Amino acid sequence: MAAVRDLRASEAADIGDDAVELAKRHLIQPWPYAGSVGAEARALIGEGDGIYITDSTGKRLIDGPAGMWCVNVGHRREELARVMYDQAMALSYNTPWYTMNAPSAELAKRIAGHAPGDLSHVFYTTGGSSAVETALRFMQFYNNVRGRPEKKLILSRGGAYHGSTYLSASLNGRPRDRDWMDGADELVIKLSSPDPFRRPHGMSLAAFTDFLVDQFLDTVARVGAEKIGAFVGEPVQASGGVVVPPDGYLKRIRQICRDNDILYVSDEVVTAFGRLGHVFASGDMFGIDPDMITFAKGVTSGYFPLGGVIISERLLEELRRSNHPDALFGHGLTYTSHPVGCAVALKNLDLLEEGVLAHTQDVAPYFQAQLKTLEELPLVGEVRGLGLMGCVECVADRESKDPLQLDKDVGKRIDAHCHELGLLVRPLINMCVMSPPLVITREQIDDMVGILREGISRTMDDLRKEGVWRG
Ligand SMILES: Cc1ncc(COP(=O)(O)O)c(C=O)c1O
Repeated sequence: MAAVRDLRASEAADIGDDAVELAKRHLIQPWPYAGSVGAEARALIGEGDGIYITDSTGKRLIDGPAGMWCVNVGHRREELARVMYDQAMALSYNTPWYTMNAPSAELAKRIAGHAPGDLSHVFYTTGGSSAVETALRFMQFYNNVRGRPEKKLILSRGGAYHGSTYLSASLNGRPRDRDWMDGADELVIKLSSPDPFRRPHGMSLAAFTDFLVDQFLDTVARVGAEKIGAFVGEPVQASGGVVVPPDGYLKRIRQICRDNDILYVSDEVVTAFGRLGHVFASGDMFGIDPDMITFAKGVTSGYFPLGGVIISERLLEELRRSNHPDALFGHGLTYTSHPVGCAVALKNLDLLEEGVLAHTQDVAPYFQAQLKTLEELPLVGEVRGLGLMGCVECVADRESKDPLQLDKDVGKRIDAHCHELGLLVRPLINMCVMSPPLVITREQIDDMVGILREGISRTMDDLRKEGVWRG
């Protein structure tokens, strides 16, 4: 034991407690490349305040991605910190297996009040992946209890991101995510991404929508509705590059699901809790009433890991009336219904309702209009978005929409310049995704877009100098 302690002490002295060095030696960060596992340094962030974060060199940066689309009400909200402290002092944890706590019930009531249709009950998880996993396991259970054990296949789409647990990750459809990773492929059918920018050349938006709907119908006809349990889709594909689907598409898919007894799972892990100016976007923005909605991230503005699934009363009633009232849904997490998470989520919802949602609706058109001005730059193929979600997609050639030979680097190159200039960008291959804290002001939007413009201009200069792009 002493030897171990000595080793640790000398090790710590050796590396001077430098967090970056410690991380290189001991920390595995998400989405590492094989060659960099455990050897990579990422920017060390020490503080956050409002829309800003400060790195270890003291540089203040606009938090362009709001963490990971999650710090919705901004950093350093004393109200949230205080409620976490108070709840931890009152009750830090209780087992959800045999007991319950009041904040989780109160939050479930308020969430159900905001949810569309007959979504009435909440099952809490630890984040988005476990929320999607829970929705899918519930679909399997539901069909087992109904005597339809064959009805388990899941429809997902290109460009989708639904998580990093085995089943949720099997739904992912972004390039490269699955190149080196296994998945439950036998359970999943992939459809096309509803990405208008990547629709076939010359095809109208209406024709593209028809194509997507026909593909869905054809798939149901080919595979058989009796084998398909669920469709899972983000209202706006977030990590796939802020893909806003064509008008009417989601409603039509919802109807096909209803007609074919396929559960519609709306993955609102990113879009819920204010990102599009509403608590939930499915009903308020897209006019659909899913069978289940998954949420996470913004529910606590990232102050505590919490997620969940809201489930339709109709499905629960069917289970209650089934021939198997003793069938057990053998699914639960130690931190399901965590009192601290639910308490902070209640306070966060207060903040959203008391002004942050209205503010988001107010500044979102300005945010979109300002970002759109970046289309003046020849490296930019399209700027798109909705609410406070935006994406700048770079292309080598605007006609062919070629996403650049150097696609791996372009987002990262822009991010590196922007970091110098005071903005954290979320680089995604050839795209830069922007989703700042919802409390951002018009002046701060100007700063953000100004820095992004300069970062892209510097990247264009670099690419020209290197002779790899002639835009
Ligand atoms: C739409 C969507 N679903 C699920 C997830 C997974 O959430 P988590 O990382 O909290 O497990 C994410 C994460 O970004 C997401 O964007």
